[in-house]
Amino acid sequence: MELRGALAVVTGASSGIGAATAARLHEAGARLILHGRDERRLAELAERTGGSVVTADFADPAAVSAAAGEIRRLGEVDILVNNAGIGWAGPVAEMTAADVARLVQVNLTAPLELTRALLPGLLARPRASLMFVTSIAGRTAVAGESVYSAVKAGLDTFAESLRFELAGTRVHVGVVVPGVVDTEFFTRRGRPYERRSPKPVPSDRVASAIVDALRRDQADRYVPGWLKLPVTVRGALPSVYRALASRFGGSG
Ligand SMILES: NC(=O)c1ccc[n+]([C@@H]2O[C@H](COP(=O)([O-])OP(=O)(O)OC[C@H]3O[C@@H](n4cnc5c(N)ncnc54)[C@H](OP(=O)(O)O)[C@@H]3O)[C@@H](O)[C@H]2O)c1
Repeated sequence: MELRGALAVVTGASSGIGAATAARLHEAGARLILHGRDERRLAELAERTGGSVVTADFADPAAVSAAAGEIRRLGEVDILVNNAGIGWAGPVAEMTAADVARLVQVNLTAPLELTRALLPGLLARPRASLMFVTSIAGRTAVAGESVYSAVKAGLDTFAESLRFELAGTRVHVGVVVPGVVDTEFFTRRGRPYERRSPKPVPSDRVASAIVDALRRDQADRYVPGWLKLPVTVRGALPSVYRALASRFGGSG
């Protein structure tokens, strides 16, 4: 779709992939609504891009609904990039019920609800796009990230189902599937990324893929592209994939 002049909402725009995506969309001529919690960072980004700021803690369902209302009042949205998210690493048995609930609420329920609330407006636009930032963890499963992988898989399947549902409308649905990205995600989840490979990619590489996928109405995009290979092997030969994953990795 044409990005110049489009009104784009980026959730989790205060950091990492979301901040880089907002900068790229601004370069492409889009107008921005920047979501996050960190008011200082959002104000700086808004100053650079001319965007509007909506702050909301997605761990709070009422704040998600309030954010949707605020976004609708700011203008007719053409693009929603569902990017905000948090990680959690460690054995499931060590998680509290609150840890699980938070991961489900922030990474799954909040983007589902925001999408539901903004979809009628998107359907009324001449062209519109819904973009979801999922994770390779949701497509391959990762030891030590079971709940995170499950909610990302849920978001992925929501996007895929919505794409079928919206076929024949002017709303396009895209999914960007990052692998390991060099952001604050790992320090925030309380467990740094310590594996030697794969090497983290810069957040701007994911942002460029998101903007390119929006421009080209692409359905599915892996960053880096080779991540498609393990997903294909898992789909075609699940037992071979399991054997390879338990030998060479499968933990984040
Ligand atoms: N980094 C990776 O390796 C990687 C890989 C695959 C997928 N992803 C996905 O990419 C997306 C962006 O992550 P990132 O790597 O850019 O991490 P990040 O730098 O930690 O950024 C996360 C963003 O999400 C927002 N966020 C977190 N908790 C929130 C909450 N409770 N309410 C509202 N906003 C919240 C943060 O806003 P505030 O800072 O303002 O709270 C921040 O803008 C996430 O969905 C993540 O799962 C990341």
